[in-house]
Amino acid sequence: MSDKAIVSEEFARKFASEKDTPYEAWVRGQGLDIISAHYVPDLKTVELKPWARREGRGVFINHEASRNSNDCYVCEIAPGGKLAPQRQLFEEMILVLDGRGSTSVWNDAGKKLTFEWKAGAIFAVPLNAWHQHYNGSGQQPARYVGVTFCPQLMNLFDDEDFIFNTPRDFAKRFSGEPDYFAAKGEQDGFLLRTNFVPDAVNLPLITAKERGAGGGHIRFNMARGAMASHISQFPVGTYKKGHRHGPGAHVIVLSGEGYSLMWQDGEEPTRYDWKPGTLIVPPNNYFHQHFNGGATPARYLAFKHSSIRNKQGVPLSWISRRLGGNQIDYADESQVVRQSFLDALARHGVESKMGPVYEAELPTLPPKPAAA
Ligand SMILES: [Fe+2]
Repeated sequence: MSDKAIVSEEFARKFASEKDTPYEAWVRGQGLDIISAHYVPDLKTVELKPWARREGRGVFINHEASRNSNDCYVCEIAPGGKLAPQRQLFEEMILVLDGRGSTSVWNDAGKKLTFEWKAGAIFAVPLNAWHQHYNGSGQQPARYVGVTFCPQLMNLFDDEDFIFNTPRDFAKRFSGEPDYFAAKGEQDGFLLRTNFVPDAVNLPLITAKERGAGGGHIRFNMARGAMASHISQFPVGTYKKGHRHGPGAHVIVLSGEGYSLMWQDGEEPTRYDWKPGTLIVPPNNYFHQHFNGGATPARYLAFKHSSIRNKQGVPLSWISRRLGGNQIDYADESQVVRQSFLDALARHGVESKMGPVYEAELPTLPPKPAAA
């Protein structure tokens, strides 16, 4: 975290008037907290406060970097309750954490759709479409996590009425197509164009050897928006290659048990244990690496800001550091990484499946760049 780059109080005072952004002032005005963390052990139990605007309960979760790119919040709908209707000039993607319910989406042209969801569902709110979430249970609360582009809009316009009350249908994003929220999609390479995934935990994936160890992967384009998202899964006894990228990747564990390492270039990694419901948001340009430390396949969902790509359109975080990208080949990782993985597996009596993976990588490795 940037909490390591600390200067004197006197120095900091010279920037004090620039510290508070319109976005932070807006969240404060909602009467809600911002959990300033890059790791939340369990979104399903994180503490919420009454949120008058939404007529539910909520908390915001973002740290310095993602506070300016895309934010994250958790919201709960009371048993038998519903949230207030809302429209917004920013994109939002939602994962249902607990419970079941439904959402109505409509536009000024009078087209209205309603679809049902339960824990594990993913969907996006079409840009500036009216929407309202309902809890389908009279006994249990329903809880979801949303990732949005609200900070960018709030910091640019600083005008709540404009952002939440502009009468404009973006017909290319949503025009009330009857099957808009049907559980179907159009597959194009790794990308699935869809607006609703009913069960992200069990969605079939595509093999992605480029990310290491035979993992499964699928990328989404939802509600014809710009927010990126994907699901990755890795088999028992394996882990993914380490990499780094910019801020705003919100990683939420869907199944399995394991841990992630995060570190700044040149520093020792810090370990963060995870289980279903854990949120990890790697700070800007921190290396991070995800490990399946348990006895079942592990799967996570990521809601992301944009990726920096090479001129072919490939994200740098998928390209070897040997080629100038931001992914660490297995052959180049530290022995500490490998040993920590073996130790984690030993605690579960699981054997590493990484030996053949290391071997298979060797003939594919780009040559190491000559030392400067
Ligand atoms: Fe990442």
